[in-house]
Order: sequence, then structure tokens, then C-alpha cells
Amino acid sequence: MKIAFFDCHPFEREAFDRANEKSNHEIHYIETRLQESTAALAAGYPCVCAFANDCLNSQVLAILKSGGTKLIALRSAGFNHVDLAAAKSLDLKVLRVPEYSPYAIAEHVVAMIQTLNRKTHRAYNRIREGNFSLSGLVGFDLHGKTIGIIGTGRIGKVLARIMTGFGCRVLLNDPKSDLVFADEIHCRYVDVEEIFRESDIISLHMPMTPETRHFINSATLGQMKKGVMLINTGRGALIDTVALIDALKTGQIGYAGLDVYEEEEGVFFQDLSGQILSDDHLARLMTFPNVLITSHQGFLTNEALKNIADTTLLNITAFEKGEILVNEVKT
Ligand code: NAI
Repeated sequence: MKIAFFDCHPFEREAFDRANEKSNHEIHYIETRLQESTAALAAGYPCVCAFANDCLNSQVLAILKSGGTKLIALRSAGFNHVDLAAAKSLDLKVLRVPEYSPYAIAEHVVAMIQTLNRKTHRAYNRIREGNFSLSGLVGFDLHGKTIGIIGTGRIGKVLARIMTGFGCRVLLNDPKSDLVFADEIHCRYVDVEEIFRESDIISLHMPMTPETRHFINSATLGQMKKGVMLINTGRGALIDTVALIDALKTGQIGYAGLDVYEEEEGVFFQDLSGQILSDDHLARLMTFPNVLITSHQGFLTNEALKNIADTTLLNITAFEKGEILVNEVKT
């Protein structure tokens, strides 16, 4: 099938070319992001392959439809960037990769926790400049600390297992409790208020939906322990950025690790080093020494890239052959 592959990065191309040796699709790699001004590039392609920061609003979908597109193959698990109602009304199928490596993201959470805690980012820069002082680098033992994991699906569960290995007390929260899992790792499900009250570290692993948008806001930040570490690898809009900045200024939040950001579209994944950053909130977040921002790289491991490529191409083949679409996203 002819595929218009938007927002292509060199690391993905390698994985897709390898996976396509078995599938033989005709992939046209396009570096630019999918948005209204670029959607016409997909004219004549029955399949559009899009990533997490491509724009798939109703206008873009309408342009794709008029160009002959029938299938949107997402290379992401999240689909909050797709107007599913519009896709349905235009009879565009949307497929995704529900799971590619929960380990990649959970292990990135651990990297963020320990970077913020042990300040390895600061030590690295200091030592390159010949400064071997230890001032300001004091961290804490993870052993014995409490971590609250909100959302215990694939990624949250892997993180919970890892953190028990550090000797942490792990508190779980999810509307769909998995009590067998909790028993197995000797942890318990609690309400979110208890997570906020008790946790030294809080990590977000639920999807972005209208209900979870700004789940972390001034009210919920106020319920947390002073100096708590907050990690978000879920989706940016789970956190109200302005409220987070206020809480960082007062010290209510002691550390923030952000792999995702509310307004990341058009910024993350891009080299903007020669340009003026126009997002004042992101610029402010970048000034805090206790904030670590990564550019939505939680998924970025060889294993995850291989799984994304394999599943995306299998999804497309299933559509082409009229088979059952196990990874279809429905409204
Ligand atoms: P999953 O679907 O396996 O688990 C999500 C869990 O969140 C479910 O158990 C669900 O019941 C729970 N949940 C829903 N609403 C909730 C609420 N209000 N409070 C607490 N829990 C709630 O998803 P998975 O694979 O674990 O991924 C989680 C999120 O991670 C994805 O939605 C995606 O946004 C993000 N993600 C980020 C990546 C990155 O590179 N940073 C890569 C992949 C996923």
C-alpha cells in the first residue's frame, strides 16, 4: 500500500525500512509534520502514517479524505491528537500501536527520578568545567520513600515493579484496580487523596481524556506533600502548566520531570536551537534547576522502535487485506 509517512525522523526510517522487508509497502518518507498546510502532500496516498505530534483535527482529516486517504496508521499508543468523531464521519479508519515497550517509558521515568534526585545533570556539566565541588548535589535514598503511581496500565505496572526493587513503598491508583497484581508485588490501591498526601514521588500514567485534562492543577498540587517530585511521561495536558510553575516558585513542588508538555506540538522533536523560543511557559520551566525536561523521548529505545515499525506495518497489511483490525481506535 502507498503510505505517506509524516514527521519522519532518521531513527524511525531505519526501523521501518527493516520491518518493510517483510511487508513490501511503498513508503514515502516526509520530514515535515502533518498539519493543515502540509496535508495536501498526502494526495494519492490511501494510507497516512502519523506520530504523536502530528495534527489530525477535522480540517486536516477532511483534506486527507479529499486526497483519497482511507487509513490513518498511528505510530503511537496515544490518540488524543486525532478528532475521532471527524474521522468516523469521513469514514477514515484509525489504527494505533497500543503497546510497544512499557519498559522503555517506565525505565525513562527512573532515569528522570534519579537525575533530579542525584543531580547528575548538574554534576556532568560542572565536571566538564573542572568544578569538582559537591555543594548543592545532595540527594536522597529512594529506599523507604513512597511513590504514588497514578494509572496502573502497562507502563504504570512496570514502573511499580521496578520501584519495589528500590525498596520504595508503592501506592497505586486506577479506577480499574488490579488486585491480583497489587497482591503479587505486595502493594495496595489507595484513593488519589492518599497518593497526594503520602507520596514523596508521584508519576502519571493515565491517558489524556476530557476527564483527566489538568488533573494536576492548583487544587491537587495543594494536596501534595511539600517538596514532592512530580514526573509526567503521560501527556502534557494532564498538568496545568501555569499552576505547576506557581507551585515550583513556592517550593510546593520540589522537582518536576517532564517528558511531555501541554504545548509540545511544533516544539518537541524539532531542532529550534537557532530560533527564539516563543513559548513563555516553557521558557520559564527551563529556568528551574529542579526541572528536567526531555523531548517526549520516553519511547525511544531500539526495542520500542522495532515494535512500533512491526505493528504499524502489520496494521496496514491487515487493512489492505480486509482482515480484522485488532488495533482499531473507535469513538
Ligand atoms: P494503558 O491503557 O495500559 O493504561 C492506562 C491506565 O490508566 C489504565 O489502567 C486506566 O484504567 C488508567 N486510568 C484512566 N483514567 C485514570 C484516572 N483518571 N486515574 C487513574 N488512572 C486512570 O496505557 P499505557 O500503555 O500504560 O500508557 C499510559 C500513557 O502513557 C498513555 O496514555 C500515553 O499517553 C503515555 N505514553 C507516553 C509515551 C512517551 O514516550 N512519553 C509513550 C507511550 C505512552
